[in-house]
Amino acid sequence: KSSSKLSHNFTNNNEIHTSAARTSTLLSTSTGFQLNPINITSYRLASTNSTWNESSLPDKIKSLDEYKALYDLSINDPERFWKMAAERLDWYRFPTKIKNTEFDYRTDRGVDIKWYEDGILNVCYNCLDRHIDHDSSASKQVAVVFEPDTPTETRHHVTYGELLRDVKKFANVLKKHGVKKGDRVTVYMPMVVDACVALLACARIGAIHSVVFGGFSASNVAERISDCDSTVVITSDFGLRGGKCSPLKSKIDQALKMKQCSNVRTVLVFERNYGNNADVKDACSDQRGTLEWKEGRDFWAHKEMETVNENCPPEKMNAEDPLFILYTSGSTGKPKGIVHTTGGYLTYTSLTFKYIFDYNPGDVYMCTADIGWITGHSYIIYGPLSNRATTVVFEGVPTYPDVSRFWNVVDKHQVNIFYTAPTAIRSLMAHDDKYVTKTSRQSLRILGSVGEPINSEAWKWYHSVVGDSRCPIIDTWWQTETGGVMITPIANAWELEPSSATLPFFGIKTQLFDKSTKKPLTPPNTGELCIQDSWPGQARSLYRNHERFVDVYFKQYPGYYFTGDGCEIKKNGYHCITGRVDDVLVISGHNIGTAEVEAALNEHAGVSESAVVGYPDKKKNQGMYCFVVLKDDTKESEELRKDLIKSVRNTIGAHVNPDVIHFTPDLPKTRSGKIMRRILRKIVEPDTSNLGDISTLTDPSIVKELIKKSPRTK
Ligand code: PRX
Repeated sequence: KSSSKLSHNFTNNNEIHTSAARTSTLLSTSTGFQLNPINITSYRLASTNSTWNESSLPDKIKSLDEYKALYDLSINDPERFWKMAAERLDWYRFPTKIKNTEFDYRTDRGVDIKWYEDGILNVCYNCLDRHIDHDSSASKQVAVVFEPDTPTETRHHVTYGELLRDVKKFANVLKKHGVKKGDRVTVYMPMVVDACVALLACARIGAIHSVVFGGFSASNVAERISDCDSTVVITSDFGLRGGKCSPLKSKIDQALKMKQCSNVRTVLVFERNYGNNADVKDACSDQRGTLEWKEGRDFWAHKEMETVNENCPPEKMNAEDPLFILYTSGSTGKPKGIVHTTGGYLTYTSLTFKYIFDYNPGDVYMCTADIGWITGHSYIIYGPLSNRATTVVFEGVPTYPDVSRFWNVVDKHQVNIFYTAPTAIRSLMAHDDKYVTKTSRQSLRILGSVGEPINSEAWKWYHSVVGDSRCPIIDTWWQTETGGVMITPIANAWELEPSSATLPFFGIKTQLFDKSTKKPLTPPNTGELCIQDSWPGQARSLYRNHERFVDVYFKQYPGYYFTGDGCEIKKNGYHCITGRVDDVLVISGHNIGTAEVEAALNEHAGVSESAVVGYPDKKKNQGMYCFVVLKDDTKESEELRKDLIKSVRNTIGAHVNPDVIHFTPDLPKTRSGKIMRRILRKIVEPDTSNLGDISTLTDPSIVKELIKKSPRTK
């Protein structure tokens, strides 16, 4: 295919855009979803007699047999499968090389992942322009529905045409401020349409965005700005969540006063105002007048957008050029700058979105994640927009102004596909069902779950109360590192079981290992979850730290990607994720490294050392338990306890809240000085009946003391 001209794949796109008629017939027959235990033998994944003989991928996956045929192809002939998947996108040069990957660090090449390596494309073009180029009516189609924090605030829907115009203009603003292909741009934004504009504009000119979640503290933002050497920051004056004002720009001001951010030369500030909504209570009103402004560094985005033109051709990017960096907590050390690239990431997020949620033209799709997390990247922006979907951007929280909010939004925008986190479901489930049942929700067709294990009580409530026992629950397991969904049901293709993410997506081959012997396990079994071969959406590295990437993900089980999660694979091949097996806590859907919390506690003048572990919590998935050893001259007190909680929130972010602070004179340590976390975990679980061998501790008596004092063992 020609390298100078866009090689549109008309056949494929026509198929996507004209499948509405077929869809309606399918929908009427696709209600075979049942909650009953499934017929085990028929779901064994082992073998299938059917094969895939077509030259392109189907528009949807309608049955388990169809899945099996394609799954076999994706595992046995990944080149062919992923070539067909790439054909769903538009390329300036279609790749001749599909897969070129090495997972084994012991080889000469070492861990090295490349997909579509000679392909050339632009992600923004694929998410916006191409829909209009293929079908001019797309410019009038709503791309983003904005649902503001205050439900009465009127905001317009943004069409593909409008979004493209704003993205081009903002891309020109970035260029005006010297941003070039390959430069890193830090984005610290609330959940507003401008956040999508910012990301797509970066993608358009080949700048690498690094989004930092708006809840992170100034020092955490500073750390992330300096780690990737951003010289330009995009933010908003304010954000609104649950009626509360979040002063984002002033946090950036604080961050930029820190020495490590001295290279930042430009801050582009989007304005969060209310347009014609004078009646909306402005929670930020008393702070608006106090906004700091550094001339020559700070610029209003809307004013800058008036100074540039609307012409901005998309940059031609190599498939392996980085698209973005996203920081995630590790079990030790500083947050990891996960690097995702262009061609593989978009191919993967685009295909997973289409199949898993069975997206049909005209559907309204809503994902409640924040743009600061991978779910926001992959399944609010890139996956949906590359499929010409209509995606809802929701600024608020599930409980404001009341606990019916989600379902009111569903009715207001006639949402068909709704994707949220178990933590939100559990918090809403605690209230009377009437807050759900008084809403219609008739538009809903598919319900998704992501971010943490969904316990069966929450699964069943989501299914029966929210979905009126009508909508399948798509429990999607994946990670920041995986780029897109890895283990998941495909809507209406097979039967579901509560709390099971069911089967691996195309191209994903799972393998369990025994934690102690490191030997592979044959299902049915429970063990540590690894992935056997590469898939296009996976992270390529950690930003400027490939060695750590290899250490964290590829050293535990040579030749495999180690997920850090435990998993049970049942007889029928269904997968149930059991949770993290390392020192990362998953609390209310947020990944929190215990090492980061310990570092924050240890910074406090009164603290000598600390150890943080998680315990099971019904609502939040896990609770955070902090053992704290004070310095000799510091006395424990309620005030100090509150102060420590506050300092953790201030150091990391308001979404990180220790549940228990347990003052102790000492921690259980081995003779070599290592804290025995295994014992601390057992104490807080609590499961103190079998603590295992504690004779290697320098002072075994401390264990008894800890048990006695722990509020979890009372
Ligand atoms: O422990 C798993 C849990 O969240 C971790 C990944 O977190 P993060 O990188 O922030 O990405 C979250 C959004 C994809 C995983 O290692 N997790 C995510 N989804 C599920 C899950 N645990 C169980 N079931 C899920 N569906």
